[in-house]
Amino acid sequence: MKYSFPDNFWWGSASSALQTEGESQGGGKGLTTWDHWFANEPNRFHQGVGPQDTSTFCQNWKADIQLLKQLNHNSFRTSISWARLIPDGVGEVNPQAVDFYNQVFDELLEQGITPFITLFHFDMPMAMQEIGGWENRDVVAAYSRYAQICFELFGDRVLHWFTFNEPIVPVEGGYLYDFHYPNVVDFRRAATVAYNTVLAHAQAVRAFRAGHFPGEIGIVLNLTPSYPRSQNPQDVKAAHYADLMFNRSFLDPVLRGEYPADLVALLKSYEQLPACQPDDSAVIAEGTIDLLGINYYQPRRVKCRDSAVNPKAPFMPEWFFDNYEMPGRKMNPYRGWEIYEPGIYDILVNLRENYGNPRCFISENGMGVENEQRFIENGQINDQYRIDFISEHLKWVHKGISEGSNCLGYHMWTFIDNWSWCNAYKNRYGFIQLDLATQKRTIKKSGEWFAATSLNNSFDKE
Ligand code: BG6
Repeated sequence: MKYSFPDNFWWGSASSALQTEGESQGGGKGLTTWDHWFANEPNRFHQGVGPQDTSTFCQNWKADIQLLKQLNHNSFRTSISWARLIPDGVGEVNPQAVDFYNQVFDELLEQGITPFITLFHFDMPMAMQEIGGWENRDVVAAYSRYAQICFELFGDRVLHWFTFNEPIVPVEGGYLYDFHYPNVVDFRRAATVAYNTVLAHAQAVRAFRAGHFPGEIGIVLNLTPSYPRSQNPQDVKAAHYADLMFNRSFLDPVLRGEYPADLVALLKSYEQLPACQPDDSAVIAEGTIDLLGINYYQPRRVKCRDSAVNPKAPFMPEWFFDNYEMPGRKMNPYRGWEIYEPGIYDILVNLRENYGNPRCFISENGMGVENEQRFIENGQINDQYRIDFISEHLKWVHKGISEGSNCLGYHMWTFIDNWSWCNAYKNRYGFIQLDLATQKRTIKKSGEWFAATSLNNSFDKE
C-alpha cells in the first residue's frame, strides 16, 4: 500500500545545541550544568565521554547542512545554547554566538530548509544553576529576557520557535530520579521546577506576542500515553495519576492555559504544591501555543500499587502507581524502551478529541542502537530495523491524519549520531553514521530511505 502525506508535510530531523555543537568551553561560551557535572563526576558518563566531545557542528555546520539537503529535509530542528549566546545567563550577548547562529540560519534557508528553533534543550547555564536554576524566579526572568533577545536577533528568519524541549525531563532527571544535575530527590522542589518552567514558557510566549514577531511559537513535549494493566478501576486510576503527573502537568497549561484541577488538588492534599504568586494564573493563561511538537519514543504501562506506601519514604509519583512490565512487549533492548507504534496514533486522537485538535507535528521519534558497525555492508550501515521503526510509526501517523488530526510533519531523532547525555555514544540514533575518531559522516540506509520518502511525500509498505 502507498502511504501519502499532505502537501507541504514537514520532513526532517531534530537535534540540540549541546549534543552536537562541541566547543562546549570555546567560542566565548559559558559553562552549562553538563560541563560542571562532567568535570566533577565523569564516571556518570558512558565511557567517560563528556559534552566537549560532540559531533562538531560548530566546525562542520556548512557540510552538515549539505547533508541535510542530501537527505531531502525541508525542515530541521535544533536549539540555541543559552550559555553560548549569553555566557552568564543574564549579561552581555556573545557576538561570536550571534555570528554562528546567523550563519547557520542563513545557510539553512539558503538550502531550502526551514529552521525550527528550540530555546532550551536541557542545557542550563551553570551561572543560572548556581543561583538555584528553575527553583529561582530570577532565572525565569533571565530566561524570558534571553527568549526576547533571540526573537529580536533571529526572528526575521526563524518562524517556528519552541520555548522548551521536553521540559519534564530536567524535572525528572534533576529532582526526582537522579539522572541530571543537580541530582536532587525531592518532589516539592521538582514541582517548583516544573511550575517555574511553565511560567518561563508563558513569559516567553507573552514576549513573542507582544513583539509581534512573525511566525509561530510552541513547545516540544515528550508525551507518554499511560496504559493501565487492566480495566479494573484501580488500574485505570493508577494510569490516570501517571497521566496527570507526566503528561498533563505540561500539556494542559500550554494547550488549555491552566493546570488540571485534580492534579492541583492531589498535590495540595500532600502539601507538595509549589509557591504561587497572585498573577501567575493570568501569566500561564497567556502561554497557550500555536504549535505543539510531540516527542514519542515509548508508552508508559502502569498498574495499581501492589504494596502500601511507606509514609516515611520520600513522596514520589510512584506513591500512586506501579510501573507494569507487560508480558510480550516489544523492546528496544539497547535503550530499554518499549516499542509500541500505535501510541503515536493514540496521542493524536487524544489531542483531537480532548484538546481541540491543535496544530502539531511529530518532533522526535527514533531508535538508539548499540554497536551498529556490525550491520555494515559495503561500507554502509544497513539499518533496516530503523526503516521498519520509522515506517511502522508513520503508518499510524498517516491513520491519525486520515481521521482528521492536524499533524503537519514528522521529524526523526536524529540527523547525525550524536552525544546522548549520560549515554554519550552508546546508542546511535542518526540517519548518518559518525566515526568518532575521524568525524567522518556516512549516510546509513535509513537516511537514503528517508530522503526518498521525503522526495515522494510517500512510501510503500504492506
Ligand atoms: C529525547 C531528547 O528525550 O530523546 C534527546 O530530546 C535525546 O535530547 C533523545 O537524546 C534520545 O534519548 P537518549 O537518552 O537515548 O539520548
